[in-house]
Amino acid sequence: MAISRFSYANVRVMDLQKAINHYTNVVGLRLVEADDKRAYFQADECQDHHCVVATLSDRAGIEHVGFKVNDPSDLVEAAEAAAEHGLKVVDIPVGEIAGQGPGVMITLPSTHNMLLFYQIDKIGYANGMLNPTPGVSKNKIGAKVTHLDHTLLSCENAEPTVEFLTKVFDFSLTEKVVDPGGNIIAAFMSCTNTMHDLALGPGPDGAFHHMAFGMHSRGEVLEGADILKEDDVPALEYGVSRHGIAGVTTIYFHDPSGNRNEFFNGAYQAAGKPFVVPPIIWDVENFPRGAFYYEAAVPEGFFDAVT
Ligand SMILES: [Fe+2]
Repeated sequence: MAISRFSYANVRVMDLQKAINHYTNVVGLRLVEADDKRAYFQADECQDHHCVVATLSDRAGIEHVGFKVNDPSDLVEAAEAAAEHGLKVVDIPVGEIAGQGPGVMITLPSTHNMLLFYQIDKIGYANGMLNPTPGVSKNKIGAKVTHLDHTLLSCENAEPTVEFLTKVFDFSLTEKVVDPGGNIIAAFMSCTNTMHDLALGPGPDGAFHHMAFGMHSRGEVLEGADILKEDDVPALEYGVSRHGIAGVTTIYFHDPSGNRNEFFNGAYQAAGKPFVVPPIIWDVENFPRGAFYYEAAVPEGFFDAVT
C-alpha cells in the first residue's frame, strides 16, 4: 500500500477567529482560505493547499487525519483492504475539503478517522516558486515552523490499530512502549523516512493528544517558547524539554479550544521496512524518561488531558 505522507490534521475548534489568530500569529502558519465553517492553513516550507484544517464545532478534538497516497488506484486498494479488515469505509466527494480531490475515510480500530486522498492543490512555498529568497523572511510572523510533522492519537488499546497500519498499510513501527507482558502501550509509526508520522498513546479511544510542528533548530524551539510567553499561550509546565523517544527538543502548548500543539526539532531519520527494521523498545518503567528525558516524569494529566 503506497501511502506517501502525513498531509494534514483536521481539528475541531469552538471559535474560528481565535483559531485563525492562534495558527497564524502564534504557530506561524499561512492562512490559505476560510469561510464561516472552516479555515485552512499551511506552513512556509510546504507546497500543498493545507496542513491544518480548523473546523468549527461545539467541542475540540480531531475530526480526521489526512494522508496522501501515491496513485489514485491506491484509494481503491486501500478501501478494499480496510473493508476486508472489517473497518468502516466512506467515500468522500470532491469539495468536502477545499483544495483536495476525492478520498476515502477509514475508521481505524482506535475509532479515529483517517482520510486518504491523492490530489491536492498547490499553493507553493512561502518564499515563492520563482527565484525565491532562501531562509526565513524578515517579515515572518509567529514561530518559525517549517511543516506539520506528526500527530499523536489516544486509544485504550493500540494493538489492533498498530497491526492494521503496519500489516495492511505498510507503516513501519519505529519505537514502542510495552508493559511486562509485551503489550503495546504507545506506538510510533512512519510511512515516510522520519521516525513518526502517526503515534498512538494511552487515553480514551478517538481522542486527540497533539499535533507537532517541525522547526530547523533547537534555537527556534526556544524562540517559539518566547512567542508563547509573549502571547500568553499556556504551555506545559516543563517549558522546553526533550523526549527520550525520538530524541527531540520539544515544548507543548494549547490552541484556544484546548487542542494540544507541539513545537519540536531533531527527529531522526528512520527509513525502515515493516517487520525488517526492528523498533526501539521502551519498557514501561522507563516510559517517563522516554516521554520527558530531563525530568524523567510525566506531568499529571499529560495523557488524560486530551481533546
Ligand atoms: Fe510529538
